[in-house]
Amino acid sequence: MARREDSSVVSKMAIAKEQVLAALEGVRSPDGTPLPGSGALSDVVAGEGKVFFSITVDAEAVKAWEPVRKRAEEVVRALPGVQTALVALTAERKAGAPSSRPTRSAAPGVRPGAQGEAVQGIPGVEAIIAVASGKGGVGKSTLAVNLALGLGTLGLKVGILDADIYGPSLPKLLAIKERPQTIGGTRLKPITRYGLTVMSIGFLIDEETPMIWRGPMVMSALTQMLREVEWGALDVMVVDMPPGTGDAQLTMAQQVPLKGAVIVSTPQDLALIDARRGIAMFKRVNVPVLGIVENMSYFVCPECGARSDIFGHGGARHEAQRHGVPFLGEVPLHITIREKSDAGLPVVATEPDGPHAAAYRNIASAVRDQLRAAGRIAPKIVIEA
Ligand SMILES: Nc1ncnc2c1ncn2[C@@H]1O[C@H](COP(=O)(O)OP(=O)(O)OP(=O)(O)O)[C@@H](O)[C@H]1O
Ligand SMILES: [Mg+2]
Repeated sequence: MARREDSSVVSKMAIAKEQVLAALEGVRSPDGTPLPGSGALSDVVAGEGKVFFSITVDAEAVKAWEPVRKRAEEVVRALPGVQTALVALTAERKAGAPSSRPTRSAAPGVRPGAQGEAVQGIPGVEAIIAVASGKGGVGKSTLAVNLALGLGTLGLKVGILDADIYGPSLPKLLAIKERPQTIGGTRLKPITRYGLTVMSIGFLIDEETPMIWRGPMVMSALTQMLREVEWGALDVMVVDMPPGTGDAQLTMAQQVPLKGAVIVSTPQDLALIDARRGIAMFKRVNVPVLGIVENMSYFVCPECGARSDIFGHGGARHEAQRHGVPFLGEVPLHITIREKSDAGLPVVATEPDGPHAAAYRNIASAVRDQLRAAGRIAPKIVIEA
């Protein structure tokens, strides 16, 4: 992640965690215990001007805890140097019990989750899609950015959310150094880059902050990035997921109101096994798999232009057929993609006439077609490129 410069919109005053905990001693939980001793408080993440934590309670007790959450937010916001205090209430659901996650916004679209509970949509956002992979380092974030830009070239209004809480990449891939401004103290204004509406936990937390977060904290961070950010009206929101198919990813796939998932894989067998796990995970939580993309599909020599299939090109197409899911396209392994991507200059925006941008745009068209076929984005808003 890129190091923050002094252009940030908030002043750089470090907040000590101890200071926050001391202030929270004055906030009482419903049974009268000071909040830090109640057992409900998550780790407190305190950075420059920002404080962030969650309170985890039983689902039945959410109502009683809401005033505590509010009070905690007020107390922390009153501390010197604090510009933003984000405190989330996370409901711990007992196995088999219906969900009562607190949501503060009206829901236009609701998807049934794995246990039949409702996952609330984001008002104004037509379709949220995940870019995921079983395996790390396969080019997911690079694809997420270029896919989002490609969807933008098709006339769609697109947002991108970095859900990789442990290793956010969007600050680097989009060369974003500024911090989001707050609106009224609690809601955040996303950053705009190349026409995309962008949000990442990397904008809020410094590179040096260790990302050792507990499960509920990860979920509350995600919930806040989804529901406490002024996303505005979007046709599509692309979510860059963390790699893997463990509990954390499963929970995310379940809790984010996804309309579909794009699986990224390289052609090697091992990556394909992980891609298979990814497909199975989304199927488990009733999220339709929109298709598979083969990244680093073949190698094009930058000098002579000769092509070689060093990883056994075509594995992902075959895998897609096996699972009866669409194959969305392929992206070659090319030094330009890496250099541009890592420099914060994604090829679809900066080399729109080049072959790599065309490859990503083709994938974007295929994704758009899948969404349209499933009725997940309204055809009226789609303009042919
Ligand atoms: N088609 C490509 N050709 C060349 N380099 C690529 C290509 N796609 C991605 N890369 C490079 O591979 C590296 C990993 O890509 P990226 O960060 O997008 O992967 P990821 O799957 O999101 O990783 P993580 O699992 O860590 O989140 C980056 O340096 C990126 O620039
Ligand atoms: Mg990534």
